Amino acid sequence: MASDAPVGVFDSGVGGLSVLREIRQLLPAESLLYVADSGHVPYGEKSPDYIRARSLAISEFLLGQGAKALVLACNTATAAAVAELRGRYPQLPIIGMEPAVKPAAAATRSGVVGVLATTGTLKSAKFAALLDRFAGNVRVITRPCPGLVERIEAGELNGAGTRELLRSWVEPLLAEGCDTLILGCTHYPFIKPLLRELVPASVSLIDTGAAVARRLRQLLAERDLLAVGGEGKLRFWSTGRPEEMAAVLPRLWGEALPVEALLA
Ligand code: DGL
Repeated sequence: MASDAPVGVFDSGVGGLSVLREIRQLLPAESLLYVADSGHVPYGEKSPDYIRARSLAISEFLLGQGAKALVLACNTATAAAVAELRGRYPQLPIIGMEPAVKPAAAATRSGVVGVLATTGTLKSAKFAALLDRFAGNVRVITRPCPGLVERIEAGELNGAGTRELLRSWVEPLLAEGCDTLILGCTHYPFIKPLLRELVPASVSLIDTGAAVARRLRQLLAERDLLAVGGEGKLRFWSTGRPEEMAAVLPRLWGEALPVEALLA
């Protein structure tokens, strides 16, 4: 595998762009392929088998495009599919992600942490194992957020409807004394400014996009696969309506770029 080969990144939709931007910032020389599985979004309410099948199909596509590493920029897909993917491709660097329970448990002063994530992530065995391992004496309150991903997909990042939904989920967590909120879905960093308005400044908001980028750098470096020099290329695909993703890209990515249709 050549070091100038691209890195393949995917999510159920545009949420993984919050991870992609961290990768771009940390590793600007890497060429990046991004698939939004928007034809099948949201993953959060679907069965693990369904998500596994989608993750395998997209991973195969990205490997067919020459990807030297895979990033599952999706907590829900990681919970359902990362073990299977690692079993299938034992030589390939595969980076998954999970809600930041460990750093949140270390950071909380009140001893109460809230987790905003999808139903699929919160119900998974992987998440239960994560709590067993890292929650310790910290009280972790989980809060699924059905409907939020669809709003973010539509670019509704700060409208009254999104604000009201968020407020109804976050207020009970604050009332329980939560001082640390985990954004356990890659879509949610896009509503961080809105969330910031709804919680006191003393409440920390934690997500894992930057940690995923650092882990990718580490795995590529260990295999001598880091791209060097210049600016890597970018390519975007959507399994849904490419024009819809192209319409929200300027807001979520910061520039307008072409999005290709993918039948996978
Ligand atoms: N962005 C995803 C995650 O990190 C999944 C959102 C969804 O499709 O429900 O969990």
